[in-house]
Amino acid sequence: MSDALYTDDIDMSVLAGQKLALVGYGNHGRSHALCLRDSGMGPIRIALRDGSPSRKTAQDDGFEVVGLEEAAGWADLVAILAADEAHRQIWTEAIRPYRKPGQALLFCHGFSVHYGFVEAPEDGDVILAAAKGPGGAVRQEFEKGSGLIGFWAVHQDVSGQAAAIAQAYLAAIGSGNVGIFETTFREETVSDLFGEQVILVGGMVALARASFDRLVAAGVSPRMAYIDCVHEIKYLADLVQDRGIAGMFKAISDTAEFGAREVEADIAGPGLMQAFDQAMARIEDGSFARKWVETYEAGNAMVTDREQDEVLPVEAAGRDLRARLKGAKK
Ligand SMILES: NC(=O)c1ccc[n+]([C@@H]2O[C@H](COP(=O)([O-])OP(=O)(O)OC[C@H]3O[C@@H](n4cnc5c(N)ncnc54)[C@H](OP(=O)(O)O)[C@@H]3O)[C@@H](O)[C@H]2O)c1
Repeated sequence: MSDALYTDDIDMSVLAGQKLALVGYGNHGRSHALCLRDSGMGPIRIALRDGSPSRKTAQDDGFEVVGLEEAAGWADLVAILAADEAHRQIWTEAIRPYRKPGQALLFCHGFSVHYGFVEAPEDGDVILAAAKGPGGAVRQEFEKGSGLIGFWAVHQDVSGQAAAIAQAYLAAIGSGNVGIFETTFREETVSDLFGEQVILVGGMVALARASFDRLVAAGVSPRMAYIDCVHEIKYLADLVQDRGIAGMFKAISDTAEFGAREVEADIAGPGLMQAFDQAMARIEDGSFARKWVETYEAGNAMVTDREQDEVLPVEAAGRDLRARLKGAKK
């Protein structure tokens, strides 16, 4: 594994002057486009589907918006920054049949290449430039003169400059201000999916909901239970990000630390390990990815789940709390 690269280590000339088409103008697409332009890259065109709700935002930001097919015929590099579950459709229907020969493909998550939803064309580089974190944070950190930690990988190197292009792209969106590391499509994909399923999203949600329900069952008011099991997650997460887990322990009360050490082994018991193994098996054998893309392509993914979430007691408690707090987002 390589050491970190910073902007001064990187040859920006490999990307300068390249025609860049960014597919999608969501969290990552918008942030990347604004940062690339501010870093002097481009010309840039934003490629959106017909009727896209993002068209006006992109145009108001001063970008030329084109259809996906037109972008595919124009660009030297196409960055597919659209939702992963749509990549197979986007690639097979709108990019592959119209693409300019030799065109490079760039992704900010390894998902669709690793699982074969996008097959590399023979004549173009296929690269990963993953700024690790939510898309909005890419722009926020860039505007502060910083960036998100960047990871690059090469799936296919036709130009002989694939790694350099991925590094330059990351530097142009701010990652060169903090550190850019090498990875592989497999490592980035498996790690990202596992992390979001078992801790950042799935694990956190499971613990938050179950602990809220348990406190309410013990006679605690929903408001107090919500504060202790959901609302305060952010304060602890901030401490962990700033100081690590050991540093977080030093920053909280000894009672909280002692109590956490008492229950950690029970929580991280055989049931949890079995859930981790099952999640990892589904990620590694591709069955999770296939299920997700097939669910998306069948339409209306997660609509019912989202409606059911809204009526849960934990959501009612959160809405009620936020409605009473000055300055809180409603
Ligand atoms: N590296 C990291 O740590 C990291 C973190 C988060 C996300 N990501 C990656 O970033 C990429 C985009 O994520 P995001 O958070 O920016 O998503 P997002 O905010 O939901 O934006 C998705 C964009 O995809 C477009 N899109 C969806 N379906 C489409 C279709 N069928 N045809 C054309 N465009 C379509 C949407 O178009 P409309 O505007 O027309 O609706 C929207 O502009 C994904 O690959 C994701 O895995 C990476």
